[in-house]
Amino acid sequence: MSAKKTWHVAVLPGDGIGPEVIAQATRALDALAEVDSELAIEYDTFDWPSHAWHEAHGESAPADYLERLAAYDAILLGALGDPGPTTDPNRYLLSDSDSLAPLLEIRKGFDQWVCERPVRRLEGAPQYLADPRAADIDMLVIRENSEGEYVNQGGRLAAGTPNEVVTQTAVFTHRATDRIIRHAFEQARMRATSREADGRVRDFGGKTAQVCLVTKRNAQKFWGDMYTEMFAAIAEDYPDVATHHELVDAACMKFVSHPWMFDVVVASNLHGDILTDLAAVLNGGMGVSPSANLNPSDRSRPPMFEPTHGSAPDIAGQNKAGPAAMLLTAAMMLDWMGEEDPAAARAGARLRDAVAADLAAHAGDMRATDAIGDAVVAGVRAGRD
Ligand code: IPM
Ligand code: MN
Repeated sequence: MSAKKTWHVAVLPGDGIGPEVIAQATRALDALAEVDSELAIEYDTFDWPSHAWHEAHGESAPADYLERLAAYDAILLGALGDPGPTTDPNRYLLSDSDSLAPLLEIRKGFDQWVCERPVRRLEGAPQYLADPRAADIDMLVIRENSEGEYVNQGGRLAAGTPNEVVTQTAVFTHRATDRIIRHAFEQARMRATSREADGRVRDFGGKTAQVCLVTKRNAQKFWGDMYTEMFAAIAEDYPDVATHHELVDAACMKFVSHPWMFDVVVASNLHGDILTDLAAVLNGGMGVSPSANLNPSDRSRPPMFEPTHGSAPDIAGQNKAGPAAMLLTAAMMLDWMGEEDPAAARAGARLRDAVAADLAAHAGDMRATDAIGDAVVAGVRAGRD
């Protein structure tokens, strides 16, 4: 038998509810390692990036923090932003762009060029859409995560005067467009294969998978046309996958009117950001929406797993935050490890099953953060084979 792999994870609890929800994730990981001796995960927890660190040191994280994170296999992050509680008017606050900057620096620093946000409603999660077909929503939003509208290039001339001129440039490269669109097709294929194995075959005009490209090519023609042309060319390599295009405004409408029509959706950085908040509501809200920032072309650079939700300062420190999104995010981390390590793959499935079973058993109940963690840990233990 080959030697088991020990995974090294940097745990960054962050601000607000981040530390509370991440505590449940590390407990669950410990329980998973207890029930399966083949799973080995070691983690180091850092109190940066955070508002507390900024208050003490004048910056959100040590100057060499990216170099330090580079030594890990993966990063598990809670949330960044307003530390709460919002009832404390004197709490230490930073501007949104300062407090959230480390997220973008980490994504860029490790070229985490894809953000994957799966949208599948688990039984027991809130269902905001009344149509019964909303229970069958099963899509994966693939967000371009390295460039586009997020390059932060531009500036302000004559700032604050009536003559002010601002530029905020978006950048779209052939290389990043090619890799994100190919990734979307690959994921579509893999999802179809796993649906087939589960007996859940879907039909998209005679094909079992679909990729929908989202642009705003009617108003933003240059990148819209490049994406459209490259999408069509790459699609020829995937004749088994149906293709589709939506303008981003129409995509928003259709995410609400008939989201069950979508399979894989590929969108630019900003469009993907906006669409995934909307999509999170479709699967039950931010409380159950996981997210992964990956660099599939270089597994030696750490990916970052963070729930889609923010730091929820209004309920911070009250043991009220739902940890499901964080736990499902940890399951995505295990899935990623599972591409190399069968024990991690088993653990990811086991954790997801435990979270799903807990949600189904307690739909709508108000429960404490750690009580949900207790139930999930118990579920992990009960699920041992
Ligand atoms: C997200 C967040 C971030 C983003 C913010 C906090 C910069 O909204 O992860 O979706 O826009 O990417
Ligand atoms: Mn967002």
